Amino acid sequence: MILLAGGTGTLGRKVIPLLLARGLDCRVLARHADGAGELGPGVETVTADVGDRPAVERAMQGVDTVVSMIQGFGGPDALGARTVDRDGNLTLIEAAVAAGVRHFVLLSIDQAAPDHPSELFRMKYAAETALRSSGLRWTIIRPTAYMETWLALVGLPLVRTGRTRVYGQGKNPINFVAADDVARFVELAVIDPSMEGSTVVLAGPRDLTFDQFTAVVGEVTGRPARVDHAPRAMLRLLSTVLQRVRPVLAGQVGTALVMDSRDMRSDAGPRQRLAPSIPVTPLADVAQREFARELASRPDEGPA
Ligand SMILES: NC(=O)c1ccc[n+]([C@@H]2O[C@H](COP(=O)([O-])OP(=O)(O)OC[C@H]3O[C@@H](n4cnc5c(N)ncnc54)[C@H](OP(=O)(O)O)[C@@H]3O)[C@@H](O)[C@H]2O)c1
Repeated sequence: MILLAGGTGTLGRKVIPLLLARGLDCRVLARHADGAGELGPGVETVTADVGDRPAVERAMQGVDTVVSMIQGFGGPDALGARTVDRDGNLTLIEAAVAAGVRHFVLLSIDQAAPDHPSELFRMKYAAETALRSSGLRWTIIRPTAYMETWLALVGLPLVRTGRTRVYGQGKNPINFVAADDVARFVELAVIDPSMEGSTVVLAGPRDLTFDQFTAVVGEVTGRPARVDHAPRAMLRLLSTVLQRVRPVLAGQVGTALVMDSRDMRSDAGPRQRLAPSIPVTPLADVAQREFARELASRPDEGPA
């Protein structure tokens, strides 16, 4: 049995069919697992917060491998990186040890570090550290930013209205990876024992500024991207003002600033050498796929 914590998310929904196709039993844990629709034939669901230790312990029964894809950084009811990415993962790790789980696959993030300016990256690092010293067999996957996540946030308004907003100057190169490619590595981590004990950085084909990212979406949709930029000074002010009242939102704004200014480039070379058969999917292909329905339903227009 594979326990997929956060299996209802963007990545989780891509991982499940790959594991089912291999005949593996899947159990998904999330707060809204029951309302998540059909996740796949025979998939068990546990509706629980990862902070609910007894529920997490029950979900571990009979589990061989845990895949943690939880995140508390973004989304309408996100609880924050400290609560989910650090403490939630600590709960999963401790419960996995207690239940005699064999292997734990942790979804972390490229550049996770104890002194990173973004809390998310520090909390992921704390979870990595706990996992490495847990006594469990482990595999840590460190992807860059998911194309699908940012296509939904920044690309979809463009497709729907021809206009979008990026946070900051939009001139800083960032690496983006397709979540489909990441899912293939998660599958590999589950089935291939030679991955155990490794920390794998998963980068996509190109580093792109947000201005370039929106231009690619514009090309795919066949009309130029009209992009507004939220000024850095406004983001700094927002991040400070929100800190006490809306700390999760303040963390998101702070991370937007980091993404606009810190070196976020990465290299797909190592992952290609590790698993040459897994594609390094370009952004235009992912955008075509993600927006196929919107583009097809546009009156008098189709994909470029
Ligand atoms: N998206 C990116 O750009 C990116 C980049 C690098 C690494 N990652 C990592 O990759 C993994 C998957 O990312 P994703 O984008 O697929 O995430 P996602 O779509 O936001 O999904 C997050 C999942 O975590 C669950 N979750 C959140 N809070 C929870 C809680 N308190 N208790 C139980 N479950 C909870 C969510 O379900 P409920 O809301 O129903 O609880 C959902 O299933 C995460 O670990 C993320 O940090 C993502």
